[in-house]
Amino acid sequence: MTTVRQLGVLTGGGDCPGLNPVIRAITRRALNAGVAVLGIRNGWKGLIELDIIPLDLKSVSGILPRGGTILGTSRTNPFRKPGEAERLLQNLQTLKLDAIIAIGGEDTLGVASKLAKQGVRVVGVPKTIDNDLSSTDYTFGFDTAVNIAMEAIDRLHTTAESHHRIMVAEVMGRHAGWIATCAGIAGGADVVLIPEEPIDLDAVCELIRQRHSRGKDFSIVVVAEGAQFKNQPAVVQGHVKDDFGHVRLGGVGHALGAMIEARTGFETRVTVLGHLQRGGSPSAFDRILGTRFGIKAVDLVLAGDFGKMVSLQGNQIRAVPLEEAAGKLKIVDPELYAIAKIFFG
Ligand code: F6P
Repeated sequence: MTTVRQLGVLTGGGDCPGLNPVIRAITRRALNAGVAVLGIRNGWKGLIELDIIPLDLKSVSGILPRGGTILGTSRTNPFRKPGEAERLLQNLQTLKLDAIIAIGGEDTLGVASKLAKQGVRVVGVPKTIDNDLSSTDYTFGFDTAVNIAMEAIDRLHTTAESHHRIMVAEVMGRHAGWIATCAGIAGGADVVLIPEEPIDLDAVCELIRQRHSRGKDFSIVVVAEGAQFKNQPAVVQGHVKDDFGHVRLGGVGHALGAMIEARTGFETRVTVLGHLQRGGSPSAFDRILGTRFGIKAVDLVLAGDFGKMVSLQGNQIRAVPLEEAAGKLKIVDPELYAIAKIFFG
């Protein structure tokens, strides 16, 4: 056991539904155990700039159903600019923070893992709508995003059918097509295209033609933003990179829609769901998972079990080494994608 008097909590990277339930659970569990909680604003940036707010029962009251994060977020990487990591370490001392809980995806947890190796007492909580973090079956935020995408596909279905059109829905999913696959299966999409497999345009168009020839004169195509045409790079909105080297993806849906229309002659329309998938109230699943993760993260801190990430394995909440979780992406299970493919056409 380690004595922890004061705990810092931060949210980094893209926001997602479920962050506030985690912050709430951490704060309540810690305060119950007599540990003070400081909210670090805007991810790692807040630790570099000493942008801190104390969290008490009042500050986390009523936030369970709220999307976004009351702490704000950023994509700041303290290891990018010289001197920032040192300032961060110094500020940990100044603030008398005995431990940090970092809530984030591969980038935020990658920083947490590096800091843990330097002796910082840190615990990670896995967040991303993309569900692409390894060592956990699910990240919170994913379930809400899948439900939003599924509802969008349902809505596209009725208008596609009325107008006899091809509807392309572009969903998020930078490295992995979890949202596309799960929303595609749940919404009954005819084609699901993901970053894990190059887009075979001939096959997609042939399938749409076959549907038409058997009387189905509309089709729904779901494409993840990170899906790539054969031997082509990902379609991007711009080449500017963030602190972690990521370019802004987006546009594959429009490129694909234009090609389908040109090749098949069928009228094709495109909908990009974008940040709608990241906003708004978390689903019941994400509220429960976020709450369980938050409680477990504090328990690890209280037990002095640092350098770990909380994780969902089956229906159990466990702890895994941060290094293991942050270092590897979890791509779509081929068995699951095969199910999405069975319904192609
Ligand atoms: O990592 C989650 C994610 O939603 C990706 O799917 C997407 O590429 C990225 O964040 C976009 O984030 P932002 O628009 O906030 O930079």
